Amino acid sequence: MNMRTARIGLLGLGTVGQAVAQLNRSADGIAFQIVRALVRDIKVPRSVTIPRTLDPAEIIDDPEIDIVVEVTGRRHPARRWILSALEHGKAVITANKEVMAYHGPELLHASQIHHAYLGFEASVGGGMPVLDALRYHLTNTPVHEIYGVLNGTTNYLLCAMAEGQPLFHALHNAQQAGYAEADPTADLKGYDAARKLVILAFLAFDGWLDPDHLTVTGLHDWPPELFFRLQDAGLGLRLLAVARKDHNGVVTAQVRPTVIPATSRLMQVMGAQNGIGISTDAGCFWIEGPGAGGMATATSIWSDIRRSQLFADGFFPHPAPHISAGEVSLPLLEIARDRDRSLTTGPQPSQRFADPSLRLVPPLSEPSDGTWTFPFWE
Ligand SMILES: NC(=O)c1ccc[n+]([C@@H]2O[C@H](COP(=O)([O-])OP(=O)(O)OC[C@H]3O[C@@H](n4cnc5c(N)ncnc54)[C@H](OP(=O)(O)O)[C@@H]3O)[C@@H](O)[C@H]2O)c1
Repeated sequence: MNMRTARIGLLGLGTVGQAVAQLNRSADGIAFQIVRALVRDIKVPRSVTIPRTLDPAEIIDDPEIDIVVEVTGRRHPARRWILSALEHGKAVITANKEVMAYHGPELLHASQIHHAYLGFEASVGGGMPVLDALRYHLTNTPVHEIYGVLNGTTNYLLCAMAEGQPLFHALHNAQQAGYAEADPTADLKGYDAARKLVILAFLAFDGWLDPDHLTVTGLHDWPPELFFRLQDAGLGLRLLAVARKDHNGVVTAQVRPTVIPATSRLMQVMGAQNGIGISTDAGCFWIEGPGAGGMATATSIWSDIRRSQLFADGFFPHPAPHISAGEVSLPLLEIARDRDRSLTTGPQPSQRFADPSLRLVPPLSEPSDGTWTFPFWE
């Protein structure tokens, strides 16, 4: 078979960028060549030997480069770089959920008008093929609800806290183990999970939610006693992200620490893993796996890189449904639904959960009387 060469420029050569370089293989008659990588600091040692540059134009404006992989993070200047690469007709693959959640409609619109592939599988669920499942597999059956553990850092912390570690001790351990970033704010406050939920909701419900208008609550330094009492009652805590669409097309979306029965598969999602359920007319599909990590995330990026070449050859559809900027927002309503029912203890204790110091009512709030309140999922 005659091999052709596709040339790749990496924007970023950190955890994910280096893993992308390590996983480079020829495939489908194409030899992939990583030409150069953008970094902030040329002198930092890397695990791979790739020419490095401090100038993004050496990648975005290089006519020899066919594919740009954006793995820098943050919204800016990633948005500008992605737009510019698409305008040059290059395929762009990104793992950046922040830029996709905030600028997805604009970026996808640009990719469509320039007929340039924009792949973002790695932006949700690390190595899990969850966006593929929504885009290419569950196409003829309406999705009603997506729910799950979307952030491995907070899940790792909740598992450690359930074993008695205070939040800040668990966070220190997570940072040492590489499960938490030096600045963990977006994870701890639930913003990271909310951004992923926006991307999932787009593919499931065909519209874009504003990530700043979701109900989002993050982790708190709850005392170990709270976790022990939950365990005694056959319950546990997860940072649960849920988006659902009702019969009138109204979407509710929220990310909140939620009390869950220990028997639920959501409670079996341990450590830095992710688990995502997709409820459809055809039943509920469940995907679980490594939601982060360089190699897992690079696996999703390579899947998109290879598909970008099939797209260029006319063998594969665009990675997003047709989108035109300005027509894409979904009506968003914040309501609790039946199973977020309030389980309040007090004069008439709940049969399920009769601990007077735990009231299960949304939303989570600071305790004024030593009582924590949580939504409940069953
Ligand atoms: N790590 C994961 O497990 C994971 C999983 C899923 C998705 N993601 C997403 O993947 C992306 C990359 O994550 P990462 O963990 O690989 O981050 P990282 O280790 O911090 O690497 C970021 C890279 O981008 C470069 N960079 C950042 N800002 C730059 C700028 N303004 N100009 C030039 N270079 C810049 C950095 O250069 P220097 O090395 O010189 O500082 C570094 O090489 C993020 O969007 C993240 O959310 C990560």
